[in-house]
Amino acid sequence: MELSYFHVADDFPQGQEPEAAVVIDVLRATTTIACALNNGAEAVETFADLDKLKRRSDEWLKTSRVLVGERGGKRIKGFDLGNSPIDVVPELVSGKRLFMSTTNGTRSLQAARKARNLYTLALPNRKAVAEKILSCETSQLFILGSGWEGSYSLEDSLAAGSLASFLLDHAEDKINIINDELIAALALWNQWSNEIEACLRTASHGRRLSGLGNHDADFTCCSQLDTLHVVPTQVEPGVISAA
Ligand code: MLT
Repeated sequence: MELSYFHVADDFPQGQEPEAAVVIDVLRATTTIACALNNGAEAVETFADLDKLKRRSDEWLKTSRVLVGERGGKRIKGFDLGNSPIDVVPELVSGKRLFMSTTNGTRSLQAARKARNLYTLALPNRKAVAEKILSCETSQLFILGSGWEGSYSLEDSLAAGSLASFLLDHAEDKINIINDELIAALALWNQWSNEIEACLRTASHGRRLSGLGNHDADFTCCSQLDTLHVVPTQVEPGVISAA
């Protein structure tokens, strides 16, 4: 399997339809997606553009939808929830479709949506997604981080390294690391794998969230490793479900 990592949406190779892609936004969009699907959400429909989200969500009954989103880390005015993974509890999301827009994560999902198989990964569901990729005998995997407004992020690279590390541990002879970005992500994982939460708090977006108020529960949730068995999978463009 040829494995490449791209830091942000704009780095994703244009015009390509890779066999498989994994989108990562550790703080916090893909952690929220994993938790919401694990808690019974019917699907998470993702939008980079807020007007499109509003038009599409208006087609749904209010009782069967939840509007989830943030800009700059803060809940979008008029939305039901912000982007905290601890808010997507079963009582609020079970059986419902979430309509989500975030500053960076949903942009990366949009950039990668033409991949023939698209998954989202956070640290809590790293093993589940890695095992799915291995079971599909994928020959080409693009890993895409989200970063912050076009810039590199430490926490997404940490998770990219954690995925590559799992794949190497379980199928080393089949893995071919293609780019230096992924070699660097692996080194990052080797450096911080025993201090995941410290890494997330050190990252610039971790410090941004801390500056907005107490996000201790988010850090705890986003730092869990291999605790969720859900594999968020794109089932139609922009729609992610626990397929
Ligand atoms: C993003 O998309 O940039 C993030 O998920 C922001 C956040 O809510 O922490």
